[in-house]
Amino acid sequence: MTAPLLIRGATIVNADRASSGDVLCVEGRIAAVGASAASQAPAGTTTLDGSGQYLMPGGIDPHTHMQLPFMGTVTMDDFFTGTAAGLAGGTTSIIDFVIPDPQQPLMEAFRTWRGWAEKSAADYGFHVAVTWWSEAVHRDMGTLVTEEGVNSFKHFMAYKNAIMCDDETLVNSFRRALELGAMPTVHAENGELVYLLQQEVAKMGITGPEGHPLSRPPMVEAEAANRAIAIADVLGVPIYVVHVSCIEAADAIARARARGQRVYGEVLAGHLVIDDSVYRDPDFARAAAHVMSPPFRPSGHQEHLWRQLQAGNLHTTATDHCTFCAAQKAAGREAFAKIPNGCGGIEERLAVIWDAGVNTGRLTPSEFVAVTSTNTAKLFNIYPRKGLIAEGADADLVLWDPQGSKTLSAKTQHSKGDFNIFEGRTVRGIASHTISRGKLVYANGDLRAEQGAGRYVKRPAFGPQFDAVARRAKELAPTAVAR
Ligand code: URP
Ligand code: ZN
Ligand code: ZN
Repeated sequence: MTAPLLIRGATIVNADRASSGDVLCVEGRIAAVGASAASQAPAGTTTLDGSGQYLMPGGIDPHTHMQLPFMGTVTMDDFFTGTAAGLAGGTTSIIDFVIPDPQQPLMEAFRTWRGWAEKSAADYGFHVAVTWWSEAVHRDMGTLVTEEGVNSFKHFMAYKNAIMCDDETLVNSFRRALELGAMPTVHAENGELVYLLQQEVAKMGITGPEGHPLSRPPMVEAEAANRAIAIADVLGVPIYVVHVSCIEAADAIARARARGQRVYGEVLAGHLVIDDSVYRDPDFARAAAHVMSPPFRPSGHQEHLWRQLQAGNLHTTATDHCTFCAAQKAAGREAFAKIPNGCGGIEERLAVIWDAGVNTGRLTPSEFVAVTSTNTAKLFNIYPRKGLIAEGADADLVLWDPQGSKTLSAKTQHSKGDFNIFEGRTVRGIASHTISRGKLVYANGDLRAEQGAGRYVKRPAFGPQFDAVARRAKELAPTAVAR
């Protein structure tokens, strides 16, 4: 059993306000918040001094890939090493992805991923990808929502000949998601265009990583984002666009929202601060280490993404943590299209966003909490259990030292990858302590992550919000003309 923990004297920051007081954690939950918390501490309570620091809800990363079999290999980080790295940076929950092979039953893939995730050191949930369509997929989506706590389904519009889903699948799956009160999400890139451009770029004699962004220009992302948004609009279902990387896709979301459509956008820490010059690095390993999809964009896109995050047209920040080492990336030495797509970042996300967001005045500390934790908890229906410091919530917390600083590097990271896309970046504002379910799991560089301590978090289906959307769709339906 974990001893009760009292955090004293920190500024408590929630998405809606900041206050001062103490926070008492007992048996994995927040038992009391405020001036009276100390007086309720039972015998044997451990005290942590938070003075001069911010106490915030632990980060929730809505987009990770631990132990993912992808492009002929498997990611370096498994559910233990990846979630442990997250805890070292203040992230206490992840939502990972179950990705069935085409024709594989969704439930079979779900059970496989549940097994892999048992070693997680932090709490976790799953989005489930719909990679093909059949009556069985329709049925399994229902089972996942009603019995297994899945309330979001992922659709890869890219990765042709692998996990890409066609429009028929998109339409069927979006409609089924609406019926079930689940959120459809999309990786928005036009896979046919990517496939064609990969061949054309190769024909031009470009075989190195610099060919990767050429084969996936912003319009390829914008086309898919616009298409998915339009399909969702016609069906009257909300939609969440993952890893929005460019002006054109962010603007598609902003336009739809201005029309009153429920569209939500996620942006990666990497896409906010890194530009496409990384692909022109003469060192193959360094350039290939940045190959992910969508790619890093020309300078100018990053500032636009920040503005849309500030404006409320992008809602969550994630990492798409998906680590491959240099030996794995070398599979694409002769052909950029064969470089396994993916980069890390789960450990660095909060510090990078604080440093580039709060220290620059783009975000207030409360807005930081919203985009790193609370909005994800709300959008995926685990709020107020997660994403909030309040009595009864899970005791997932990060004590944040705004003056603490460190230089990010592969040499010091906890992630198993051998590369860090933020290498050499010095950040001010870091996690000093992380508390997961009431237990101190990280303290000033000392990581005490425990294999298997994380729990699967069921996410219930959405109720009234979805009903409202469906009603509006019906109201707009043209009345039949009697002849
Ligand atoms: O390059 C990426 N993003 N790899 C992981 C799979 C995905 O597209 O999210
Ligand atoms: Zn993706
Ligand atoms: Zn991903």
